[in-house]
Amino acid sequence: MTDSSQIFGDAAINQASALPSEPCVMLIFGASGDLTKRLLIPAIYNLACDNLLSDNFAILGSAISELNTEQFRATMSSGEDGIRKFHTRSKFDEEVWEKLVSRFHYQKCSFDSVDDFKALRRKVAELEVDYQTHNILIYFATAPSFFGMICENLFQAGFKEGQGWRRIIAEKPFGHDTQSARDLNAAVLKRWDENQIYRVDHYLGKETVQNLLAFRFANGMFEPLWNKNNIDNIQFNVCEEVDVGARGGYYDKSGVLRDMMQNHMFQMLAYLCMEPPSSFEPDAIRNEKSKLLSSVRIYKPEEVPNYFVRGQYGASFDDEGEMLQPGYRYAQDVNPLSNTETFAAGKLHIDNWRWEGVPIYLRSGKALWKRGTEIVVEFKKAPEAIFRGTSVKSLAPNRLVFHIQPYQGIELLFQAKVPGPALTLQKVDMHFSYSDAFKASRYTGYEVMIYSCTRGDSTLFSRGDLVEEAWKIAQPILDYWKATPADDFPNYARGTWGPKSANELIAKDGRRWFEVVTPDVLQRTPLFKGSDPALLKSIIMALRSEAAEIGEIIIQKGDIANEMYLICSGEVEVLDSAGEEIKSLKDGDFFGEIGLLISSPRTATIRAKMLTDMFVLDKADFHRILRESPRFAESMLKIAKERYDVTLLIDQLIS
Ligand code: BG6
Repeated sequence: MTDSSQIFGDAAINQASALPSEPCVMLIFGASGDLTKRLLIPAIYNLACDNLLSDNFAILGSAISELNTEQFRATMSSGEDGIRKFHTRSKFDEEVWEKLVSRFHYQKCSFDSVDDFKALRRKVAELEVDYQTHNILIYFATAPSFFGMICENLFQAGFKEGQGWRRIIAEKPFGHDTQSARDLNAAVLKRWDENQIYRVDHYLGKETVQNLLAFRFANGMFEPLWNKNNIDNIQFNVCEEVDVGARGGYYDKSGVLRDMMQNHMFQMLAYLCMEPPSSFEPDAIRNEKSKLLSSVRIYKPEEVPNYFVRGQYGASFDDEGEMLQPGYRYAQDVNPLSNTETFAAGKLHIDNWRWEGVPIYLRSGKALWKRGTEIVVEFKKAPEAIFRGTSVKSLAPNRLVFHIQPYQGIELLFQAKVPGPALTLQKVDMHFSYSDAFKASRYTGYEVMIYSCTRGDSTLFSRGDLVEEAWKIAQPILDYWKATPADDFPNYARGTWGPKSANELIAKDGRRWFEVVTPDVLQRTPLFKGSDPALLKSIIMALRSEAAEIGEIIIQKGDIANEMYLICSGEVEVLDSAGEEIKSLKDGDFFGEIGLLISSPRTATIRAKMLTDMFVLDKADFHRILRESPRFAESMLKIAKERYDVTLLIDQLIS
């Protein structure tokens, strides 16, 4: 293993003395678009607030819109559609903004007009004099279809010549498949050098993603365990609550594999699984990432159904069966018969010495039950035989969870002995939370990208070969899905955990997805609303997830009760002895608790009316939590009385 102090060099200790960005004129193509006002300008404003922007910095906005400099400044300053709406700071600093916006300029440009580019070049030359810099940073905040054309016209207009550096930042998606990515790389590199091209993947701008490298290589403890001898599987989960919104036109041609997996998730995969680089030099890191991606097994198209499943969200309904929100196929600019996947789950193999045989599971989708990005590293279980003759029946694996967003932290889950004479175990955790340890990040993620680019640091950007490697992994899946339209779309309702096939995919291997439940998700259940954080925490630690298929019996009347259930999303019916529905239960409802409360057999049968996602709390954990939390025990007594007309004493409950 490489000595980690060598890898980091001075970077590890020099954070506080960060230098301002290098002077430059930043030329933004697509300056009247969404990305500019929502992310780029707020990021630049954040840099200015934190004294990380050079005084010799100017922006020249450019787009096809007819605007002048005054109008551009006014739009960027506005409260409806500008910085006052999109800034990320707790307090807006007028003084910083006024100084910054006075350095904004605008000039219209048609992307296919060499004359317009020549006029832009003259304007930039004026700004070079005014701001005493010859450096030019060019930002492509346009649709990728324009990248090749803009590169060519910039070259024709003489942008490559002159003193100072020239750097180009290009937004994702970089290509649409392997061939188009190759073509785009060729078009861009025809006129520009690879070291001038900075391909953005905004996930690499996230502190929690960058920290994967620090975690692995600045700590001596975990890296020796980071291999197939100790790790059972790794799960990457990017769950989005938002739907496709107004982006149907783009998304319908893309789908989650192109939109999230090929870029953001494969980048995280590379950080988590690559070999230690020899240094933190950009190419040392990017070489390792590229090596890792090229070790991922490329499936044959016919193998794809064994390893990948897809989904598309359908409508959501209220209790009366009225539609709340329509499904994906009804979104703006989406084909009503669309075959585009809004959810995908899959398994990859990394065929190298370190990871051979360790499955890498990936899952991502839109319109799901929660927003959350997590990476779960699941270690191999300890041998259970040691505990024979004790009340410990099974052991849970240790898990290391990287919470990327919205909660930002790292958690290590392990087992501890519950105090008392008997040997019983309970899952506990150690965790590090960014907000406890550091001032909460106010950044959008784009600050570090722009800042690093001005300083010529391409570590956080993708390289041409990396992009192509990532497309190669995705290509057979894209091909197979294109050739075999899904016959069950839509196959998951909005607000659920996605299609059941995702659970089946991992269950085939005898594993399950590790669902990260957050206190806000638990508080959606009336039973836990307003509960104190310690109680929520201990419930979260104890929950496991389970999904029931339509028609599946979850509880059978007369059975011994060993668990209670919380419905995360879906619907179940409570049946009488004749099999008639007495009532139905939905999202946020819980059931099965009476059997645990009075240790009696199940009083009714409960069957899933649709695909239902649930959290399960086992009897032993339920009783432990009751003992630990008198308030929770009180509310259970109330429920026993109200729901079942059973009067219990607190001692009976916790004995
Ligand atoms: C973008 C995708 O790249 O990333 C979007 O195009 C997605 O569809 C977004 O919603 C997610 O980014 P974040 O930072 O919210 O996780």
